[in-house]
Amino acid sequence: MELDKKYSQLVELNKQAELGGGKERIEKQHSVGKKTARERILQLLDPGTFREIDKLVTHRSFDFGMQDKKYLGDGVITGYGKIHNRLVYLFAQDFTVFGGSLSRANADKIVKIQKMALQMGAPVIGLNDSGGARIQEGVESLAGYADIFYNNVISSGVIPQISAILGPCAGGAVYSPALTDFIFMVNNNSHMFVTGPDVIKTVTHEEVTKEALGGAITHSTKSGLAHFTGNDEEQTLMMIRELMSFLPSNNMEDPPVKTTIDPPDRMEESLQELVPADPNKPYDMHEIIDQVIDNKHFLEVQPEYAKNIICGFARFHGQPVGIVANQPNHLAGVLDINSSTKAARFVRFCDAFNLPLITFVDVPGFLPGTAQEYGGIIKHGAKLLFAFSEATVAKITIIIRKAYGGAYDVMSSKHIGADVNFAYPTAEIAVMGPEGAINILLKDKITAEEKITAVNEYREKFANPYKAAALGYIDEIIQPRDTRRKIMDALEMTRNKRKSNPPRKHGNIPL
Ligand code: HXC
Repeated sequence: MELDKKYSQLVELNKQAELGGGKERIEKQHSVGKKTARERILQLLDPGTFREIDKLVTHRSFDFGMQDKKYLGDGVITGYGKIHNRLVYLFAQDFTVFGGSLSRANADKIVKIQKMALQMGAPVIGLNDSGGARIQEGVESLAGYADIFYNNVISSGVIPQISAILGPCAGGAVYSPALTDFIFMVNNNSHMFVTGPDVIKTVTHEEVTKEALGGAITHSTKSGLAHFTGNDEEQTLMMIRELMSFLPSNNMEDPPVKTTIDPPDRMEESLQELVPADPNKPYDMHEIIDQVIDNKHFLEVQPEYAKNIICGFARFHGQPVGIVANQPNHLAGVLDINSSTKAARFVRFCDAFNLPLITFVDVPGFLPGTAQEYGGIIKHGAKLLFAFSEATVAKITIIIRKAYGGAYDVMSSKHIGADVNFAYPTAEIAVMGPEGAINILLKDKITAEEKITAVNEYREKFANPYKAAALGYIDEIIQPRDTRRKIMDALEMTRNKRKSNPPRKHGNIPL
């Protein structure tokens, strides 16, 4: 072949690969409000940084006439690029080629990316849009999935793994995203379920739509599977970029510090008035968080799930942290099954990736009831206790108001390894609330009037932070207006913290 022909052959092949399943299928993809895999990659990455690999891979299947149906790239685009000028690896399933279904060759491409990311210490982002296992390939496709799952597990806690669901994701295919750190979904256009509506109808006779079964709203409010939801693909991809700005590239790095003009010693007078004098009145914990973090910039994780606990990322003087906070505005900030598991997973992520944990406490205890007990609140609550206890990152705790019973211990108390424990003068640290305590201690022994006096006496004596401060369980009682400055000081003091738990294969978190 002449030299020119050789070069133009490559140009031609590249063009062909870039066309995926062809113009018609691209138009079909657009017509249902979805972008193509390539468009998504360009939107996600810093401009001009995408480097594709395995662009010319094809499947190796001969059944069902597949030898005559080959598309360069075989339904997944893989490579690396940059987000905020930092290396990330990614794969994007191309729905225009066999519905983005997973063949052996296609899985090999994803596995290659996963292995490279692990070796180079950079995150992996998966853009999922696929009909699942390539039906024509059978067990080879299942093997491909298992290889991906295995690499997800081996990479867990070493590099951040992010999944965006931008189309269908069904059957066993859901388990790769489920093994990653964060799942992003898009309203109306992404679905995750193990068995679809038709199978469900046959087996359980339930009738349910795809959207109600596994859409973004379902997974962000009911199952807690989705961590972030965008209104459309653009917004979702931008949210991934935002999340990445808080994360280190791997577990050996510190999270990236961002310059800020928000003064570290900023006092916030409004905080003096924020906690209501009546301990039974709710208030919005978000207001405290917003006032103390840099520029009110808070990236909340699972904002619509288990709202009685708030988890999310923020910065103090540019340094990323993870925030966990009880929310008195929702179920009085009580700990229940969902809030315990939500926070436990978040705490473990932060610990794995060197994000200090700032915990704001206002918790009346664990939620009573048979539903909670039968549902396993004991083991689920224990997850949060386990997660906070094993976390070796800097842990700073501020008790705003209630810290009652076991929940006091669980919420990053001094006893389970917090480095700095603050309390507001409004803090109430005791075995239980005054009403509950008097009911048990003096049940049937006093009149209603005497009860009011006893409750008030108990509150005065026990429902405050001074007993805990006298014992050294609280390091300092602070004025609310000083919260930002105090957290900042504590972060600076703990910056070089070195702590490791005894060597072991792994702990046995109560699953
Ligand atoms: C091969 C597939 C495919 C698949 C879709 N296609 N899924 N090809 N294997 N799994 C092809 C279609 O034949 C079609 O090809 C093109 O992709 C687009 O699909 P449509 O059906 O036209 O698109 P749409 O109407 O949007 O429906 C999308 C869909 C549907 C809901 C995903 O295609 C579907 O139900 N597919 C099968 C899903 C499934 O049962 N997968 C196996 C799950 S089990 P043409 O040439 O017509 O454009 C599984 C096990 C994993 O995944 C286990 C891991 C452990």
